[in-house]
Amino acid sequence: MVGIGASVRVGVVGCGNVSSRYLANVAGEPAVTVVACADADPARARALGAAHAVPEVHPVADLLAHPEIDLVLNLTPPRAHAEVTLRALEHGKHVYTEKPLATTMADGHRIVEAARARSLQVGTAPDTFLGVGAQTCAALLAEGAIGTPTSVNAAMMNAGPERFHPEPEFLYQEGAGPLFDIGPYYLTVLTELMGSIVRVGALGATARTERVVLAGPRAGSTFSVQTPTHVNSVLEFASGATGMLVTSFDVVATRTPHLEIHGTEGTIVAAQANSWGGPVLLTAAGSTDFVEVLPGPRDSDGFMGMGLVEMARAILAGQPALASATRGLHVLEVLTAIAAAARDGGGFTTISSRLETHHQT
Ligand SMILES: NC(=O)c1ccc[n+]([C@@H]2O[C@H](COP(=O)([O-])OP(=O)(O)OC[C@H]3O[C@@H](n4cnc5c(N)ncnc54)[C@H](O)[C@@H]3O)[C@@H](O)[C@H]2O)c1
Repeated sequence: MVGIGASVRVGVVGCGNVSSRYLANVAGEPAVTVVACADADPARARALGAAHAVPEVHPVADLLAHPEIDLVLNLTPPRAHAEVTLRALEHGKHVYTEKPLATTMADGHRIVEAARARSLQVGTAPDTFLGVGAQTCAALLAEGAIGTPTSVNAAMMNAGPERFHPEPEFLYQEGAGPLFDIGPYYLTVLTELMGSIVRVGALGATARTERVVLAGPRAGSTFSVQTPTHVNSVLEFASGATGMLVTSFDVVATRTPHLEIHGTEGTIVAAQANSWGGPVLLTAAGSTDFVEVLPGPRDSDGFMGMGLVEMARAILAGQPALASATRGLHVLEVLTAIAAAARDGGGFTTISSRLETHHQT
């Protein structure tokens, strides 16, 4: 039960890479009061607590049972999301979790059911669909700026998080990879703009089975890859529009736009779906030239945690949060369907003829 103090009392579980960005961004926000933090590694909890003046540092089990915590902010790695979220719900806490909601549909359903049974809310990142960039696109679509939307092209391709993350191994495990790490941003924004996805197909590939940590004290150490690191997917929306989404940790450099929405009368070019802002470009009426509707540059870090703030305000107002578990469950169903299609290679027609070319590798 949230207290009368007009602020949701938050306990943070998972004090790693993103935790300090969250705490810096929600500091001073009246709807959120961070009262405690915990981590499976107590030293990390102590370090975060000291750096952000968090009043209490606890073992994980004590934080989850803490009577004066209303909401657990789950910033653990994806494989721990469901376990931590379900334990927090059992203790009567609301939960806001980093993405994805869970790594399997069975766990996703369990979370939604447990929250419903206890009249608690579960919110999930990403929250960038609430940002000015995505909402500018939504307003353009609503006013018919590109006519009827017919297709989308989305791509997020880079050389992998080991370039900046000191412990990138979890991002290459089953239930992670570029699809589960980056895909939630794109699928959440795309479904906000285009509606539900009803059918998917995919092909996945793994360029290297072993990779190297490039940042932090463990730079130079190698680790094994357990998930596809390049996933090409095809989407069909309930509206009949179709789309392509490519997520990759295998691309050194690219000029492919991050997000384009094509309609019968024009095209919108949007910023990365993991950013809060612009630029957003729109074709001028009757022209193939683009005009800038919203300027850049992109800004992600400064807004991380806004979904938590929106959820806290919604809880205080007795309303459902916008970055809801229902939304997260739809995105998870699409993610797991793409992963299964990429694994099985199903639904594709095999070509039997072969060409011999002089430059075959
Ligand atoms: N790093 C980024 O740039 C970034 C950006 C956006 C979203 N995210 C998401 O944020 C989440 C956390 O990512 P991160 O980069 O901070 O990871 P991280 O590995 O740096 O930190 C995770 C922390 O959780 C702790 N932990 C693991 N299992 C636990 C458990 N069962 N109970 C309590 N603590 C546990 C670990 O000890 C670690 O300190 C992930 O879901 C990730 O997808 C990360």
